[in-house]
Amino acid sequence: MSVCLRGAAQVLRPPEDGLPYLRHDRASSLSLAPGSVCVRDGLIAALEEDPDAEVAIDASGGAVLPGLVDCHTHLPFAGWRAEEYELKVAGVAYEEIALRGGGIASSARAFAEASDTEVLEQAGELALEMLAHGTTTFECKSGYGLSAEEELRALRLAAELGGRLVQRIASTALLAHAVPDGYTADGWMEEVERLVPRVEAQALDIYVESVAFSVAHLARMGELAAAHGMALRAHVEQFSTTRSVPVALEHGARSVDHLACLHPDDLGPLARSECAAVLLPGAELLGDEHVAPGRALADAGAICALASDMNPGTSPVLSLPLVAGLAVRRYGWSVREALLALTLNAAWVIGRSGDLGSIEPGKRGDLVLLDCPTEHVPYRFGRNPVALVLMEGRVVYIRPGQEWRVGGR
Ligand code: NIG
Ligand code: FE
Repeated sequence: MSVCLRGAAQVLRPPEDGLPYLRHDRASSLSLAPGSVCVRDGLIAALEEDPDAEVAIDASGGAVLPGLVDCHTHLPFAGWRAEEYELKVAGVAYEEIALRGGGIASSARAFAEASDTEVLEQAGELALEMLAHGTTTFECKSGYGLSAEEELRALRLAAELGGRLVQRIASTALLAHAVPDGYTADGWMEEVERLVPRVEAQALDIYVESVAFSVAHLARMGELAAAHGMALRAHVEQFSTTRSVPVALEHGARSVDHLACLHPDDLGPLARSECAAVLLPGAELLGDEHVAPGRALADAGAICALASDMNPGTSPVLSLPLVAGLAVRRYGWSVREALLALTLNAAWVIGRSGDLGSIEPGKRGDLVLLDCPTEHVPYRFGRNPVALVLMEGRVVYIRPGQEWRVGGR
């Protein structure tokens, strides 16, 4: 089976093949030249027109990108928390909402009350919307379980979700998200220690914040991740500066996420490390958080990634084109910087940059065709530019009105 996207105005390509990530001070070396991309038997086969391709896709006027990777979401979850957003915009702090029994605890109650079918239906519908916005791979996290059995259930449902969707998923066990009722943070970490060997996930995650866990707990989670061959990820420096980053680096974290309150002294070491800085501008905007130092991180050569942080509390946002637009405006990033953060570097975060995240021969044929040049993505803010999505060379989404692009040989 072969398919060829022909005559695109732009094809996003890395400066060389085989890169596991590209530091953000090199983002300008990404090329956006006109071209074609052909996929054969699921893998990218050629970067030139193939007149013999069985399916020809007219990419004229558009841009071909690697499938977008959403490396930080909280799917699956149950229900929403719109009432909290109303409180938040009226000035009630996130920590205050959490102390009143809202926040993560209320999503945990909803998750426990929802049936498996309800959780999977909600997540499945969101995943379809994500596909229409170009997301071909996304991370799922547990974290709304807040008990051993419910955390395991969340990871099982994530795996089931992955089996039902056309997209691929990566699972993260966010075992320390909020301190469950009846526990101290230390007491819950003992529970986590017993839970980790039972967990099937690529990464462990923890939320370090005054209302959640401490830097010492982060260090413990790092030891657990190392002992069990999982990557360490961490929600850090979101609402306050806890100096979590040096500890995360010491434990070889794959990513530190949020960073709105990153301490200036921690920026250089982070930028020089192989730990990705995952920025979540949707949460920053909707939570009226500080703005992460995206420009400074990029200039210092950090491996930056962007993600939706899709969750019912801080960021009920799923559109990665929208996230790109926010990053460009709020961090002063170029379009290339935003796209790099949603493709190769995001794939690095979930350990998949060997076969996903860039357009190069041999990688999987997960591709997105935009109906416009990439410069339009941040500029026509809030508009969905995705015309068509391919997974391993199979057309899995066509925006109504874009059917004309797909033809036979
Ligand atoms: O990434 N900050 C911690 N965790 C989530 C929010 C979870 C929630 O409020 O439900 C985040 O922002
Ligand atoms: Fe998050």
